[in-house]
Amino acid sequence: MSLAQPNTDTNAPALDVERVRGDFPALHQQVHGKPLVYLDNAATSQKPQAVLDTIDDYYRRYNANVHRGLHQLAELATQAYEQARIKVARFLNAPDARQVVFTRGCTEAINLVAAAWGKANLKAGDVVLVSEMEHHSNIVPWQLVAEATGATVKPIPFDDRGVLLLDAYEKLLSEGAKMVAVTAVSNSLGTINPIGRIVDLAHNAGAVVMADAAQAVPHMAVDVTAWDADFVAFSGHKVFGPTGIGALYGKAELLDAMPPYHGGGEMIEQVKFTGTTFAQPPAKFEAGTPNIAGAIALGAAIDYVQAIGFDAITAHEKQLLDYGTAALQSVDGLKLIGAAPDKAAVFSFTLDGIHPYDMSPVLDHEAVAIRTGHHCTQPVMDRFGIPATVRASAAFYNTTDEIDKLIAALEKVKTIFA
Ligand code: ALA
Repeated sequence: MSLAQPNTDTNAPALDVERVRGDFPALHQQVHGKPLVYLDNAATSQKPQAVLDTIDDYYRRYNANVHRGLHQLAELATQAYEQARIKVARFLNAPDARQVVFTRGCTEAINLVAAAWGKANLKAGDVVLVSEMEHHSNIVPWQLVAEATGATVKPIPFDDRGVLLLDAYEKLLSEGAKMVAVTAVSNSLGTINPIGRIVDLAHNAGAVVMADAAQAVPHMAVDVTAWDADFVAFSGHKVFGPTGIGALYGKAELLDAMPPYHGGGEMIEQVKFTGTTFAQPPAKFEAGTPNIAGAIALGAAIDYVQAIGFDAITAHEKQLLDYGTAALQSVDGLKLIGAAPDKAAVFSFTLDGIHPYDMSPVLDHEAVAIRTGHHCTQPVMDRFGIPATVRASAAFYNTTDEIDKLIAALEKVKTIFA
């Protein structure tokens, strides 16, 4: 596995980007006869060989169900699955691995909290605050539970740079807020939100916080204990692990008090026709056979990222952010959407006179993989009065040379549509 190289010039370790790129087979391919420039990491990240090998090893060597059989393979699988839970807990700096529930992804984790916590705790007149920059996955589950309980969902606004308005937030908190659902990093603007401060203010007002860390965990160290957030969710596939696996962290007392989300095998204590009792968390929330290979491979992805280290990752991505911002600003007619001072290397933009969807095929033809659309954040598009953006989103394996290729491809777009 590639490791960060010490850099004697600064305190932050430098990332040997060519070396880490060697760990990602998918990055080394041609698309339309040109080397792939993968800048769609906010949608999903590529997987290192260590993750691919872990999945293969599980299915070849110790494929068995977890928590059920007493045979050798079942014990190996259970140990690896529970070891992965410990890795997730350490990755998030959670006090106890029992506070980590494996889910299908971040979306399922939020739906779990909205359904299980929401239905038990929300009533008519209560308010759920969601930021105006939330992904639909942190809006719609709250709208569904609001419909069922009579609660109201209200947006926390942000300014023209994409910075959340904390004054407006404080005011909204005083209007009966019971839950604050907010993203740590915006997928369409790149804004890094001050979760610790948001949590403090929520707690002072007696509200609980659900932080969406899906776009944070690939880029920065997330510390749920420092944040003091009540619930934190993320997806495995955004942090170089497989799809179909994610995790929910929750405060122990909240998870204990919550009713189950799904019913089925292994989430029970006793099943009788006179009444069923439930297992303790996290089992209470993991009905049915889980994504065992996915969880174990997520553990491998976490090992991989931690071996590189977030000091090196954030320093490298900051360079990409600064370089990319300057380069994109030099493109005539290009407007960056999202200019928060605290920002991840996510570049959402429009080009004067050219619809974002018209740019996609040209960029694809140049082997530049980006996402075009509303990015599951329609309220963000409405806020800026645009239908869509082109979004280039970087990971630690991207290079400034790839940003140059994006710029060259955009110049081509302009010549075609001039
Ligand atoms: N949430 C993912 C994105 O922003 C899919 O593209």
